[in-house]
Amino acid sequence: MKVVLVGNGAREHIIAEKLAEHCDLYAIMSKKNPAIAQLSVKYWLCDINNVNEVANIVHDNEFDLAFSSPDATLEAGISNVFENAGILVASPSKSASRIEWDKGFMRTIMKNHKIKGSPKHEVVDNVDGAVKAIRDYGQVAIKPLGLSGGKGVKVSGDHFDSIDEKIGYAQELIRKDGCVLIEEKLIGEEFTLQAFSDGSRIAVMPPVQDHKRAYAGDSGANTGGMGSYSTGANLPFLEKSDLDDATKILKEIIHALKKEEVPFRGILYGQFMATADGLKVIEFNARFGDPEAMNVLSLLKTSLVDIFLSMAEGRLSKPEFSDECTVLKYLVPEGYPDSPKKDAEVLIDSFGIEKCGASLYYASVYEKDGKILTTSSRAFGVLGKAKTLEEAEKIAENGCNFVKGPVWHREDIGTQELVNKRITNMKSLRSS
Ligand code: AMP
Ligand code: GLY
Repeated sequence: MKVVLVGNGAREHIIAEKLAEHCDLYAIMSKKNPAIAQLSVKYWLCDINNVNEVANIVHDNEFDLAFSSPDATLEAGISNVFENAGILVASPSKSASRIEWDKGFMRTIMKNHKIKGSPKHEVVDNVDGAVKAIRDYGQVAIKPLGLSGGKGVKVSGDHFDSIDEKIGYAQELIRKDGCVLIEEKLIGEEFTLQAFSDGSRIAVMPPVQDHKRAYAGDSGANTGGMGSYSTGANLPFLEKSDLDDATKILKEIIHALKKEEVPFRGILYGQFMATADGLKVIEFNARFGDPEAMNVLSLLKTSLVDIFLSMAEGRLSKPEFSDECTVLKYLVPEGYPDSPKKDAEVLIDSFGIEKCGASLYYASVYEKDGKILTTSSRAFGVLGKAKTLEEAEKIAENGCNFVKGPVWHREDIGTQELVNKRITNMKSLRSS
């Protein structure tokens, strides 16, 4: 089977690795990911968000199955390019992926279909409306409606100190986008639940906790994600009912989109927050999370090609996961996220990484004259997988030592100390 994958980050590296075990893999990338290139029979470099450029490649090749991965490709309609060419597709159409690229649409779907979990919120297109919502809610999250690489959301207490700063940011987004989403600030613990869907049914994956903040102890700016961990069927700070509620919400979203005649076939990603007031929805994505893809796909025991095929054909098959723990740490360039050191050489000791049991996933690096160099984005994901979280964390941490050069990572991700803080925080919230 000829399977084509669009995308070139660490998330796509593990997708490529899992697919290539069971098919002939073809890759369409914006920049050459050396690891994906090696896993592929053939690869092309183009602007992956440009439907015409991708259509030209598709036209000249007879692919059987396609999967487009990054958010901006879904918004651009790359899945539609494949569908129009008569190829089976396991990623959502432009209109179905709107659940990710239009947060106003997402909240409206939840409201119209009586899906629980939205905080108080308002989409406003004028400064007076923004000021009123900011004053009414007090503590707020202010967001652009569209894609922002995880970096567009600002939250009271974390990013704003004064009301003027909140109004200023809302004003900036209105000027730029014509409108802004203002939500009440939620307090609790966040987690990710991802599901495969064929447009009617879902099959959930193990839950994961991502760490968006740049620095240890969850301080600093929001990033694309500094690392993540999973602990089998549930996370230590969640009740079973939290997971059941999250699963129910994902199912309801799939049913709502079907009713709206935009069936969602692909990976539905729910970002949830467990709060004192029950489960809340932060956002949905129309794709695997990055880094969460590395946590869940490393546990997948079934063929990803078979699952994608069953999704594309509307007959979802059941995936199986091992119940081990995983810890993923992102190595990022020195100075990241404010002033990342670009074009710096990194040396990878692949033998050392393998020997300590870790796996290395290539994110945003490039090859020049036989050397691997950094860009301004996250460089490598280092994954540890083991029976216990403690072991998985040690493996990931050891693995990081085998990449030499101006890169750093959050050493606290996956440590028992950080997990205990989540457990204590959730206990105190639930008893308040
Ligand atoms: P998003 O891009 O919507 O996932 O938001 C990025 C991050 O901002 C989330 O992971 C949360 O940590 C934070 N955030 C978003 N919305 C809210 C909210 N309503 N209350 C508190 N934090 C939020
Ligand atoms: N890990 C967050 C995201 O992929 O959006």
